[in-house]
Amino acid sequence: MCGIVGYVGPRDAVPVLLEGLHRLEYRGYDSAGIAVEDAGGGGVRVAKTAGRVADLRRAVPDDMAGATGIAHTRWATHGEPSDRNAHPHVDAAGRIAIVHNGVFENSDRLRAQLVADGVALASDTDSEVLAHLVARSTGETLEDAVREALAQVEGTYGVIVMDAERPGELVAARRGSPVVLGVGEQEMLVASDVAALVRYTQQVIYLDDDEIATVTADGYRTSTMGARATSTTRSPTSIDAASAEYELGDHPDFMYKEMREQPDAVDRCLRGRLDHRFSSARLDGVGLTPQDYQRIRRVKLLGCGSAYYAGQLGAQLIEELARIPADAEPASEFRYRNPVVDPDTLYVVLSQSGETLDTLAAVQELKRKGGHVIGVVNAVGSTIARECGHGLFLHAGPEVSVAATKSFTTMGVALAMLALDLGRVRDLSITEGRRLVGGLSQLPDQIARILAAEDEIAEIARKYADARHMFFVGRVRAWPAAREGAQKLKEISYVHAEAYQASELKHGPLALINPEMPTVVLVPDDELLTKNTGTIEEIKARGGPVIAVTDAELPAGLATDVIRVPKAHEALSPITLSVPLQLFAYHLAHALGRDVDRPRNLAKSVTVE
Ligand code: G6P
Repeated sequence: MCGIVGYVGPRDAVPVLLEGLHRLEYRGYDSAGIAVEDAGGGGVRVAKTAGRVADLRRAVPDDMAGATGIAHTRWATHGEPSDRNAHPHVDAAGRIAIVHNGVFENSDRLRAQLVADGVALASDTDSEVLAHLVARSTGETLEDAVREALAQVEGTYGVIVMDAERPGELVAARRGSPVVLGVGEQEMLVASDVAALVRYTQQVIYLDDDEIATVTADGYRTSTMGARATSTTRSPTSIDAASAEYELGDHPDFMYKEMREQPDAVDRCLRGRLDHRFSSARLDGVGLTPQDYQRIRRVKLLGCGSAYYAGQLGAQLIEELARIPADAEPASEFRYRNPVVDPDTLYVVLSQSGETLDTLAAVQELKRKGGHVIGVVNAVGSTIARECGHGLFLHAGPEVSVAATKSFTTMGVALAMLALDLGRVRDLSITEGRRLVGGLSQLPDQIARILAAEDEIAEIARKYADARHMFFVGRVRAWPAAREGAQKLKEISYVHAEAYQASELKHGPLALINPEMPTVVLVPDDELLTKNTGTIEEIKARGGPVIAVTDAELPAGLATDVIRVPKAHEALSPITLSVPLQLFAYHLAHALGRDVDRPRNLAKSVTVE
């Protein structure tokens, strides 16, 4: 949520920063801006605009250049998206420039104080106060000034600050919002995400919460915030993502690219983890012994958005295969209801980005109360991965599109392996284990076959592009996949999509069925098959069009349209059934002319509450 990037070094900062913003645009895209220390000695020069990074490129004057600069792409929290509210913000003298990701919760009070002191505020944002507070600080160094200013704010931040009077230097700090330093050859970068850095360096340092860094072309120094600053010794680590993984290549958009990458992503997620000898999974990163596994009495899965639905899918798998009571809950709700944290419960936290603030806060609350937490995370080095310490990486590769696709399927796969591992320590027989290992091994090929049927799915999607509302229904195993399918459709097409348990339809929502209300019915080939065909009949009897998504043989003419997928292991069918729902949402959104990678009002990595 909001992307920030900074550069100091021998190159012209402007193209480096614009390229960095382009990579970070999935974090927010309602306005963008850039500030550089003018190469001609003219102080700080700022260009900013409402709109996208492409709009900013047009707004940057041709003669804007400098060796040090900062930039920002915004997802508005305080103040409407507009030129004046775009970052960077500067102090009244135009000397200090700042970019901020996060929320200053006491900004109303700070703004009032500044106004009372005669400062003219130029925006409606919470962030602007920082520029003024730094400018008014008496600190000797820029770092001292930033420390002093940040001591006055409450809330969360990842910030980068520069000062026209101290050329060639940036100060960055974090509390709750990610900041990563990129260490190059005689140049340094700072960003909210490695995506902005990979083109220039593979050597990075993830700042910890309450850490501050001073960065120049020759290096960096880090220390703790707070009254007594203590130096922290931080050596760079190598990132595992190649720059090419962030490129679109020949694909029309990132969502398409990421859907297409799913067979490989699932293959990487499985690689080296299936234990054919014991018909189990080898999940070393989880850090639990068989004795620890035996002691687990419950499993609680936590995540937000698609990660929450993947958690629901995982809860079903764990309860079914390991016979341990399991349930999922939105991480965003968890900490506010003063949860009972039980020492015999395994807490599994899910996050693609590893930066979602609500999820991170749930981890911190759990740890504070002594809960045992593991992470199922895609981004290596992310805050949640580091905070959890143990867990499973998805190895899905970078996911850029706001709509989760390959992270959802690989979360399903990772949780199926966890369920298998837990099950094989308990009552899951070697025969059942072997069947599941076989089912997991087939997934990459099955997903590839679903993707190969894209044209047929696209045609069906276009047929329903005029619908204003849609139901997505599924029973038991298929219910989380139905929720994820509805989520995909609403977030990228803006068509109202509501997910329901198929069994609950007759308890209310059936009243809404009519020829204008299509229903997507998930029909796995499992013991509930006839219940689901019964649901289809009930909808049809009320004149509702039905799109059946199934790996079963359905009687001809039962559904209005049928999307067939290869037959998966019954416990894994929610994973295969979700793939056509992504394609369905994608093509329906395109038919409506939507920008699928940048859905309105959303951002990928939600690092504010
Ligand atoms: C945002 C995104 C969703 C995503 C959720 C959780 O809301 O728009 O697509 O599922 O955050 O993100 P995470 O990175 O924690 O999986």
